[in-house]
Amino acid sequence: MMKDKLKHVGVFTSGGDSPGMNAAIYGIAKAANSNGIKLSGIQKGFDGMINGNIVSLVISELEKKVHLGGTILKTARSERFRILEGRKAALKTLEEHDIDALIAIGGDGTFQGLLAFAEISDIPCLGIPGTIDNDLSGADYTLGFDTAVNTAIENIDKIKDTAESHNRIFIVEVMGRDSGYIAIHSGIGAAVDAILIPESQADFSALIQKISQYEGEDAFTVVVSEGDEIGSGQVASEIKSINPSVDLRITILGHLQRGGSPSAFDRMLGIRSGVAAIDELLKGEKNKMVGYFNNQLLLTPFDQVVKQHVINQELEKLLNMINN
Ligand code: F6P
Repeated sequence: MMKDKLKHVGVFTSGGDSPGMNAAIYGIAKAANSNGIKLSGIQKGFDGMINGNIVSLVISELEKKVHLGGTILKTARSERFRILEGRKAALKTLEEHDIDALIAIGGDGTFQGLLAFAEISDIPCLGIPGTIDNDLSGADYTLGFDTAVNTAIENIDKIKDTAESHNRIFIVEVMGRDSGYIAIHSGIGAAVDAILIPESQADFSALIQKISQYEGEDAFTVVVSEGDEIGSGQVASEIKSINPSVDLRITILGHLQRGGSPSAFDRMLGIRSGVAAIDELLKGEKNKMVGYFNNQLLLTPFDQVVKQHVINQELEKLLNMINN
């Protein structure tokens, strides 16, 4: 039990923001408070740690931010933390403020950064997976994914309204970097005609097959993940080359998928993960991610958190059913 030693925790958000980060900060603050631990916020991720941007966090204020998207602590992708000098400067800041443990909310890049930090520091660090991409092993759902999927579905539904009215083909590009999870969940949920993801190559030939039979008498919606190996622009050109007379539009949903009020699921996930992170620090855990896995909050060591590039068999079957 580390309880006696744990007096002051620093929390920061890092990498791309995701809805639910503020809920996680609130959860951390509640648990810290009930264990008599001081909590400080580090602004702008690792950059703020280097620059000494430390702020105090007040629970009565955090209560008013749980419903907000983005991150009240701001975020950044830090280049300076990649070099040793940057990490030494960050350590100096933490020592100056007597911060004796860290909780990071971010993606795999954040956790890799903390592993590098562990080479020069004994400060225990835990992570909460916060990314809309849902691309981390050790987490069935990353913080913000559910909200991003809901946002994507809401917008694909709207696009389908106009697509149906004109009997148009719509290509809708969704986010996910190298991961097709947002595309699969939003595409299936919005009942589109085809879904293209980076994890599959067969999806494009299935689409071409379907398009060759398309006669323009109905709408046709294709969701393309931004990381797909063909890409939305090329998919549109290929469709046009098969049938030059089709009426086709492309919509890129882009960063609107990153913002907005977190869903009920992401609020609970954030708060529960935040509370669990404090509990695990008190047990003496370090350099691990608190992930929601198999309906439980479980720890995965940072060095085992990797980007997921595999879609499970059940989802793959579902995807094939839709695409063929
Ligand atoms: O990782 C989250 C994410 O939104 C990805 O889906 C996307 O590829 C990327 O971040 C966009 O990054 P940026 O905000 O730096 O353009």
